[in-house]
Amino acid sequence: DPKTMEKIVSLCKRRGFIFPSSEIYGGLASAWDYGPLGVELKNRLQRFWWREMTQLHDNIVGLDAAILMHPTVWKASGHVDSFSDTMVEDTVTNERYRWDHLTDEQRETKTSPKGNPLSEPREFNLMFKTHLGPASDSGSTVYLRPETAQGIYVNFKNVVQTSRVKIPFGIAQVGKAFRNEIVTKNFIFRTVEFEQMEMQYFVKPGEDDRWFEFWKAERLKYYEKLGIRQDHLRFEEHGPDELAHYAKAAFDIQYLFPFGWQELEGIHNRTDFDLARHSEFCGKEINYLDEETKERYIPYIVETSAGLTRSVLMVLSDAYEEEEVGENDVRTVLRFHPMIAPVQVGVFPLVKKDGLAEKAREIEMALREDFSTFYDQSGAIGRRYRRQDEIGTPFCVTIDYETMEQGTVTLRHRDSMEQERVSLGELGQRLREAIKS
Ligand code: GAP
Repeated sequence: DPKTMEKIVSLCKRRGFIFPSSEIYGGLASAWDYGPLGVELKNRLQRFWWREMTQLHDNIVGLDAAILMHPTVWKASGHVDSFSDTMVEDTVTNERYRWDHLTDEQRETKTSPKGNPLSEPREFNLMFKTHLGPASDSGSTVYLRPETAQGIYVNFKNVVQTSRVKIPFGIAQVGKAFRNEIVTKNFIFRTVEFEQMEMQYFVKPGEDDRWFEFWKAERLKYYEKLGIRQDHLRFEEHGPDELAHYAKAAFDIQYLFPFGWQELEGIHNRTDFDLARHSEFCGKEINYLDEETKERYIPYIVETSAGLTRSVLMVLSDAYEEEEVGENDVRTVLRFHPMIAPVQVGVFPLVKKDGLAEKAREIEMALREDFSTFYDQSGAIGRRYRRQDEIGTPFCVTIDYETMEQGTVTLRHRDSMEQERVSLGELGQRLREAIKS
């Protein structure tokens, strides 16, 4: 449904997930701010990825490199010469298009989608340039990184020398990246400033194809574990003319967004391209000594590169549902995996009087040690549940007169809307189990 995107954008604004950047000044095209619920969702998604990649694999360590790097990095990586798109402009409306997004006919006749003449195509480098220090001469040019990957490659030797890792091993990193995209659209899908979650896996040459297959399977399992609809995920192989300048083979994991199938993550076999080029440009050997065989070689790299901000849109799209729950009664619900929900447990006193509010507060204070909680004592209880459904809160706990007499509470489940009585003694354990699964 093409309306779904509009509804998601509007819910995100209304409930404080995502706002247009600098909105009081009319916004800045293609930049977005994450509000109180959005930042929780994004952080949890990042932690989920980090735990999956580092904690649950023997041989993957973390890194957090600077956004600004020595400018020669981008010459060596090929980005100065090759990281560009071809752009044309509608000579009447001044709208910009990517050359490869036009149809064959539009390209042949040099006509825009609006039917107007197009300008001559020109190459457009996607890197943002800025200057280090007060003098803005060409000697001081630095770039905002267009991918986080290079921060890992230039630290390869540092990590090998300090962390006792042995090939095959990986280095994981999450951080901002910047691209001066010609066309940005679809909310946070393609933006000029975004976050990537990348893992570079260093392997012995000749074993790269096997590890490439391993990581393809592993990354699909990750999305399954996150509870993403399986029929909304697929692999798409890059043809020879679509391959990035560094890649021998590449597969995208695509997701069926409300606007169609689109790339969510890239899995690339980058061969020894990056390390060999850095060796050449810095004039120092960057290689690996296998201590058992005494062989020295430049490792091959299998990369998994997912967009974090793009994943936020993916989980929002996947979770969003309008469900008919009665006659003329439709509820909006975000069915987030409990592990990434911004609020995990809503706590409500049925009424404020007779000590119920105080008791509910006491229970909420105990739960907040382990979960992200939200306390709400105003309005009809049904309305309070629905407000939590809309932001994806998987569990609500209601305190009533029975709580005071028998020490039990109502545990209400977001997805089934079922309610059950649970004793206070069991509540924490029940929630912990439900959130983990
Ligand atoms: N290091 C390899 C690399 O950067 P990529 O396919 O260009 O590969 C990887 O990007 C992922 O980064 C994409 O699958 C997407 O999720 C995210 N990404 C790339 N450009 C983006 C943009 N302009 N806005 C949001 N996410 C973007």
